[in-house]
Formats: sequence, C-alpha cells, structure tokens
Amino acid sequence: MPRLVVISNRVAVPKARGVAGAQGGLAGALNSALKANGGIWFGWSGQETDKFTGSVNYVRSAEGVTTATIDLEKQDIEEYYNGYANSTLWPLFHYRIDLARYEREFAKGYERVNERIAESVLPLIEPDDQVWVHDYHMLPLAERLRSMGTENRIGFFLHTPWPPTNLFVSLPYHERLVRAMLHYDLLGFQNDTWLESFLHYCGKELGAEVHHETGAITFEGRTTYARAYPIGIDFDFFASKGETEDAAKAEKRLITSTRNRTAMIGVDRLDYSKGLPERLDGISRFFDRYPERVRDLVFIQIAPPSREDIGSYQDIRATLEQKAGQINGARSEVDLVPVRYVNRGYSQEELFGFYRASKIGLVTPLRDGMNLVAKEYIAAQDPADPGVLILSRFAGAAQQLDCDGEGALLINPHSSDDLAHNIAKALDMPLEERRMRHQNQLKSVREENIQRWTDNFVSDLASLAS
Ligand code: F6P
Repeated sequence: MPRLVVISNRVAVPKARGVAGAQGGLAGALNSALKANGGIWFGWSGQETDKFTGSVNYVRSAEGVTTATIDLEKQDIEEYYNGYANSTLWPLFHYRIDLARYEREFAKGYERVNERIAESVLPLIEPDDQVWVHDYHMLPLAERLRSMGTENRIGFFLHTPWPPTNLFVSLPYHERLVRAMLHYDLLGFQNDTWLESFLHYCGKELGAEVHHETGAITFEGRTTYARAYPIGIDFDFFASKGETEDAAKAEKRLITSTRNRTAMIGVDRLDYSKGLPERLDGISRFFDRYPERVRDLVFIQIAPPSREDIGSYQDIRATLEQKAGQINGARSEVDLVPVRYVNRGYSQEELFGFYRASKIGLVTPLRDGMNLVAKEYIAAQDPADPGVLILSRFAGAAQQLDCDGEGALLINPHSSDDLAHNIAKALDMPLEERRMRHQNQLKSVREENIQRWTDNFVSDLASLAS
C-alpha cells in the first residue's frame, strides 16, 4: 500500500500547538485514514506569522501520524480563509449566492496561498506516494503541483455540496477553477447529486467529453475520473466512546436535568448552512400547536461558534440568540425552560452521552455535503430503546438514512409545519417502529463507515489513474 500524503486546510495537530477547529467531521475522518495507511498530514497550522517562510512544523502523534504544518500571514488568512474559501466558495457551494462575496483580492489571495502550500509540501512528497487533497480551500492545488513537476497520483475529495451549474456560473472565472480541478486524477463527491452537478458543468460549460457511467471526464487530452464516495464515521472508534466514564456521566447529567421531559438535541457548528433559525421556527410552531407539550419536551442546541471574523457568521449568531430568547421568553415557566442554547463544543465522549440521552435528534441543514452528526446520533442510540432522527432531505446523509422511507424522518427544513409535525410524530412513535427505523439506519452507518470510504477512494485512485 503506497504511503498517503493528505493535504487539507485544517490539520488536527496533537494538542501541543493548540490548533483549534477539530469540530467538523473532516478532522476525525482523516486521522482514521492516516492511521490505516501511514503517512503525512499537511496543512495550515491555524497560526499567523509576520512573514511567510514556508518552514514546516512537524508533530508526530502517539498514534503514529505525522502532521506537517505551515503558518500563514495575516493577509493570507484574511483573503484565502475568511475571504475566498469561506465568503465566496462556502456560501456558493451551499446555494447561498445571496451571501457570496466576489472580490478580486480574495481570488488573488486564494491563488497565492495554494501556490505557497504547493511549494511547501512539494519536498515532502516521495515518488510513490499517493496525494489526497481535501475540500474547497484547495481546488487548484493539483494544477500548482503539476506545474512544479509532480507526477504522483493526486486525488481530491469535496466535503461540501457542489452547486447546480446555473448557480456555479455566478462565480467570476468559474471556468478557470474547474479547469484547474481537472489536473487531479480522481475527484470525489459526497453523493450523486453533487457529482451529477459537476459532470453537467464539465459537459455544458467546458465542452468536455463526459462519460456518466464511469465518471470519466476527458478534456484537453487528459482524463480525470469523478465519482461519489459518501463519507462515513469511524463506527468502532465512536462506539468505543460510549464505554467511557465521561459518556456515562454526560448521559446521566442530561437525563437528570431534563427529568420527565424528552430531550431533543441538535449539534452543529454555528453556520448559516445548518438551518438553525429555521429549526427554532419549527420548534416554536410545535409549541404554538401543542402548548401543553412544553412540559414534555426540552430542546438542547449545542452550537460552537465558527469563522467568527466573517460578518455573515456574526449575523447568524445574533439571529439565533434573539430567536432562542424569544421562545424562552414566551414559553418558559418558573420551573422550566424549553430551549437550552449552548455556544461551546464538547468532547466526543460527552456528545455520545448527550446523544444517547436524547430521544430525538435534529439534523436539519438547509444544505450539507453529508453531515456526520446524523450518523453519530444513530451510532450512539441504545438499540433496545432508540431515539428518532429527524433529518433534512437536503443533507447528503438523507440519501443513505432514508432507508426507503423506513429510516430517519425526512423533512423540508424550510417548512416550520413539517418540522413541528415530525417532532410530534417522533414524540409519539411506538417503540417497535423506533427500533425498526433505528436498525435500518444502524446497518448503513455501521457498514458504510470511514474505513470503507478511505479504502474505496484510495484503491480507485491507484487503479483508475494507472
Ligand atoms: O466540512 C467542511 C469544513 O470546512 C471542514 O473542512 C472543516 O474541518 C470544518 O468544516 C470546520 O470549518 P473550519 O475549518 O472553517 O473551522
């Protein structure tokens, strides 16, 4: 098995350098892949430097994964991370062209940082390595590496959605970006919807020859393959968290504090793509319809702040504070508060315990590449008395967890009525039905796990490119 060089914006460096942001599913997923194949994980340290030197910081983890990171200048962070990646591509890829900012300086900063990453990682790549690049921060990286002479196999996986062509073309110089992506050997998407949007773009806008069955895209004499690889969780690893004392404590803590009420939980980075205001509107609608049920239900929303330097993230935070305050103002009693809104992160052990104690899980993004919280919620349930997952039809995970209508309760997150109706349905669902739905989802979560995702991608990268 060739060595793997993983490149992503965030790297979960062992605590020593105090890098923040292992909140997303990506960090855990990549750590597992590297543990299995051995290799290097390269990316931004999360730190700022006065002058970019390209010098690499190495940390070897107890699990045998070497992380190699570079520091970036303030202007780089502003234009590449806060700018092009998270104020241009992120909203666009989540269908929010109303929030997307198209600024020349952002695009320039993004190109510059991709060039810097390519220059810094190049000396670490050995001839037989497979290179695996992740996410929208580094769409043009293969082109940069190729221009510097890299002939290794280079794969790319997009963790977010890919938007429909008629939205994507609102991006100035969209062609340039996709042409650069066609320097990868293999492009991975979370599901067929995003994959088909990408293939459609290549055929329609670039005039590439596209073979939908195999995913082969031939353009200007090169062939790149594009396929769907739905990401999963590290099932055994996550399940083992349930055996810890911290998980047991967290479960007990929630059960004790919610007493005779059903706990309903949501865990999301504080991001406008997650549909959090719409979720609170749906909960408010539920209490409007069934005011007496305020004594049956308590909603816990865990929402660690994210990308706090960006205006649209500051706005969503303010909106949520207001909405949570409104519901609680209108519905609280002296002895109960219907919404607990918490702006901090928790360990995986604690989350396991909270999920297990919650008889309803809410995962209702307006658009999401996959959403691993949905899968973790299912993995944490007690099969004898499982909770009910209410899932947005617009999350990538819906394609696997729908289970032909016998899995998660799928909703339209834009409809408060739909959410309110499904909360009532979940609260009243008989045990037999809960078990049946949970069993179906558990099978998918257990089998379509992170190991399978890694194996499928890495073996396709080796075989398709050769
Ligand atoms: O899943 C998308 C993603 O951008 C990941 O790349 C990242 O780990 C996660 O969300 C958290 O975002 P950020 O790195 O911007 O804090």
